[in-house]
Amino acid sequence: ELVNWCVEDAKKGGFAHFMLKEIFEQPQAFYETIRVGVDDAVRKVIRSAEEITLVACGTSYHTALIFKYLAEPLCNIPIRVELGSEFKYYPPPLRGLVIAVTQSGETADTMAALKMAKAHNCPTFAITNVQGSTVTRIADTTLMMRAGPEISVAATKSYIAQLAALMQIVNIRCDGAFDDMLAHAHLAIDEVLLQDMADAVALCRTAEHVFFVGRGPFYPVSLEGALKMKEISYIHAEGYAAGELKHGPFALLTPETPVVAVCPPGATYPVMVSNIKEMKARRAPIIALGVKGDSELEEIVDIFIPIPDTHPMVQVLTTSVVLQLLSYHTACALQCDIDKPRNLAKSVTVE
Ligand code: G6P
Repeated sequence: ELVNWCVEDAKKGGFAHFMLKEIFEQPQAFYETIRVGVDDAVRKVIRSAEEITLVACGTSYHTALIFKYLAEPLCNIPIRVELGSEFKYYPPPLRGLVIAVTQSGETADTMAALKMAKAHNCPTFAITNVQGSTVTRIADTTLMMRAGPEISVAATKSYIAQLAALMQIVNIRCDGAFDDMLAHAHLAIDEVLLQDMADAVALCRTAEHVFFVGRGPFYPVSLEGALKMKEISYIHAEGYAAGELKHGPFALLTPETPVVAVCPPGATYPVMVSNIKEMKARRAPIIALGVKGDSELEEIVDIFIPIPDTHPMVQVLTTSVVLQLLSYHTACALQCDIDKPRNLAKSVTVE
């Protein structure tokens, strides 16, 4: 009998897809990025920044938006986030530190923006996963994230490693206030990897549209949840700031339109709960992510997905991973080509 070797399968290390393997590598990607830390050059640039503009595309744009929510109140400096494709033609004020966030270090729009910032004498900074990539040659200073090679087109572990790098920047600005939290965050990520998604998948797989909603940093978490759903399951999904749904999208809510609400404790919890009640009143089925033991939330929603009760920054990580799993398992149920979604490329090198 012939022995059938498949190199592709061997590389997946027992996982059905690279995407699932990479989702499971996230505790390691986060931990490694924190463990390796940053050098003195990076520390100096970050400490002296009086204004930061981040530029990025796709999933990297979402981590940049999360950074703005986390860093602005803690660091007390203005932070802008721009899309690479807009920056060159509609540039923001070209002053202060400009940070390009890019997994591949090759995205043409992001490169064009960073070059423009450099030409205007802005100090430039790169956060990337690829040593020696184009962005590292343009930027004055580089902070490497440690995700390791990412094969699946949809970004997962590079997103988590980017957040590790960006949270490290917040930590530097706060004189190490988050050292302990960052050193242990990977344990919480580990806890959600085996979350049972079957009920939520059953709701989403037959839907034509799915909304993802959250507030504060959980708004860009929702944008990323929706992007993942579109990319790999081909279901139309939209991420919204939870308070905005009533300004239009309410018209689309039906019993066939699930809403995924990211609803951890915090200042916006009460208003999230009332948003959820409004959506329920429009008969939309609600899948809610809340902390373990939140019976108030569990009672009002259709499907409750528990996340560990941790520091809010860590909840950004755990909720993101749960949303990746929701898209992944939905795409599996629909038998989509998960690692190579139609029409998409891992790295987009044209403007
Ligand atoms: C492509 C990929 C996305 C990625 C985006 C930005 O569209 O399919 O997953 O987020 O490029 O890539 P970058 O390498 O700059 O982070």
